[in-house]
Amino acid sequence: MKVGKVLVTAEQIDVKLAEMGRAITEDYAGLDLLMVGILKGAFMVMADLARYVELPVEFDFMAVSSYGSATKTSGVVRILKDLDQEIAGRHVLIVEDIIDSGLTLHYLLRNLRVRNPESIELAALLIKDGIERPPIDVRYEGFHIPPEFVIGYGLDFDGKYRNLPHVAVMEEDDI
Ligand code: IMP
Ligand code: MG
Repeated sequence: MKVGKVLVTAEQIDVKLAEMGRAITEDYAGLDLLMVGILKGAFMVMADLARYVELPVEFDFMAVSSYGSATKTSGVVRILKDLDQEIAGRHVLIVEDIIDSGLTLHYLLRNLRVRNPESIELAALLIKDGIERPPIDVRYEGFHIPPEFVIGYGLDFDGKYRNLPHVAVMEEDDI
């Protein structure tokens, strides 16, 4: 496998996150917002999006791992690190890197809703098109991309490439 063509540039990401940040700033004005990043993939989106949210927001993180092969989720999610705080009565915004099968978020939303947050919404930088998934309402979305395996900007292949400043396609080597 090798790094293929760039799908979303660092500049495009920055412009989009500024837009999303402005929308979040308007929507949550006067409210007590808790942004929850899903590790590890969302660490870059979280850091960069947060800079465009002009509110006294709090942060927390969850780490989850979905069993499956390197490039495919099984839908069975394991919580490796839970939230540090209670979310009952809070306005929660989940921040995700990418929605592929949607199974991780589907599971997480069910898990978090029973904790009785005042509201729970989703922000995702990337959404793969052309994939059958349970209905998931994404309030703040970045880019729709083709259903290919991508890396960079938090996303890994076999633990690597998360530090690329852009999103690129992972390609098979030429034979
Ligand atoms: P899901 O299939 O929507 O449950 O995606 C679960 C997780 O798999 C995402 O949060 C990502 O961390 C990871 N993932 C999904 N698609 C890709 C991809 O194309 N590249 C790298 N990681 C991915
Ligand atoms: Mg993820």
